[in-house]
Amino acid sequence: MAAMKLPPTILIPIEGNLRLRNYEPEDADSFFSLISSSRDFLGKFNHAESSLDEVQQMVARARQRHHKDGFGFSAGLWNGNSLIGSFSANRIRWNSKRADIGFWIGKPHCEQGYASKGLRALVQYCFQDLGLNRIEATTVAENEPSIRLLKRHGFTNEGRLRQTVLINGRFYDELAFGLLKNEWDQRYGEIQKRTTTTYSQFTLKGNNLVLRDFREKDLPTYAKWLEPGHEWQNFDGPYYRQTLPAINPRLEKRKLMIESNSFPEPRMQVVIADINTDTLIGEANCYWNSAEIFWMSMGIDIFNSSLWGKGYGREALTLWIQYLFDAHPKLARLGLETWSGNHGMIKLALRLGFKEEARIRKARIVNGERYDALTFGLLREEWK
Ligand SMILES: CC(C)(COP(=O)(O)OP(=O)(O)OC[C@H]1O[C@@H](n2cnc3c(N)ncnc32)[C@H](O)[C@@H]1OP(=O)(O)O)[C@@H](O)C(=O)NCCC(=O)NCCS
Repeated sequence: MAAMKLPPTILIPIEGNLRLRNYEPEDADSFFSLISSSRDFLGKFNHAESSLDEVQQMVARARQRHHKDGFGFSAGLWNGNSLIGSFSANRIRWNSKRADIGFWIGKPHCEQGYASKGLRALVQYCFQDLGLNRIEATTVAENEPSIRLLKRHGFTNEGRLRQTVLINGRFYDELAFGLLKNEWDQRYGEIQKRTTTTYSQFTLKGNNLVLRDFREKDLPTYAKWLEPGHEWQNFDGPYYRQTLPAINPRLEKRKLMIESNSFPEPRMQVVIADINTDTLIGEANCYWNSAEIFWMSMGIDIFNSSLWGKGYGREALTLWIQYLFDAHPKLARLGLETWSGNHGMIKLALRLGFKEEARIRKARIVNGERYDALTFGLLREEWK
């Protein structure tokens, strides 16, 4: 069997702003500070890097394994901008569909349920998205919390490896644990299915809606909403639509993406669909103001005005912002452009922490009246 490739972006949503995201070079400072604040604790049974330089090398090695060798990946467990710990899948043997996993949680975040959440997300990802059949984990025989965690998630102790680890001049035994896909499926079944961005598929699940790639079945609904006369068009850039909107290029572009299965990585435009019916109810998009300096803006539309004011916009925008910051680690900010007559968008932007950064007075004309052009901005460190 040909070796499978790992997707360049591994982003595993867990709940709220908690997710696993593959290491990026920019993460080294956060790892160094978490490792430094947990040194005694982590160093008990593991190697704990002792300098920023060493952490940078560790991140670079993990990235080489992920992006060049395809044998494994390491992901930070992040809650908003706060690094909680790390989860890895290593030595992926695609032919026999097995891998080793490893994990640690920083001392300040222990005993808060993060390890269970991260472990479940990682295991589910390995079985569901990577198609693996067996997961192995070895842990020092005296590492009680880790052993309890593995057993609680259905791992079987398959043996004792004697004196495999040398820490501070002392040898330790390790316990070898294994978990099979059918055991996991029996235990967790469908309820554990986590949606992830992988290969050609993109799905991010919220409570009431899902952000996903365009599919063929969406095109008639999408085309209907692009026809002139819908309420949403009175709010999304109505100043561009004094004549008939340029709908066809927008539709054609999505058609082409679906037909050629060539969705940009990371995604630039995605469907907002109802979680129960999977019907397209809107679209989220982004564009570069200047790609060279990672300056990006984004926007959303909930097409059906009878759904406005019910929290869909907030949920969709929250998922989209999180995705864009995760998928583009070099983004320092996200922009959002609108106009002073779009009260829904303004309220939503302010609710999510955007700041009004520019007001170009009387720059827009809508129905013969002058309005201000508005630019909002959200810095990465302001996004929690
Ligand atoms: C702007 C838009 C995405 C907001 O989506 P939504 O689903 O209505 O948003 P939510 O229900 O999450 O509302 C977010 C907040 O805005 C408020 N809000 C929504 N519409 C409002 C309006 N017309 N006037 C004042 N406040 C409004 C909500 O009450 C809510 O406030 P809260 O957090 O205090 O409860 C949606 O109205 C839309 O798609 N409009 C047409 C297209 C468009 O304008 N896109 C933006 C282009 S810049």
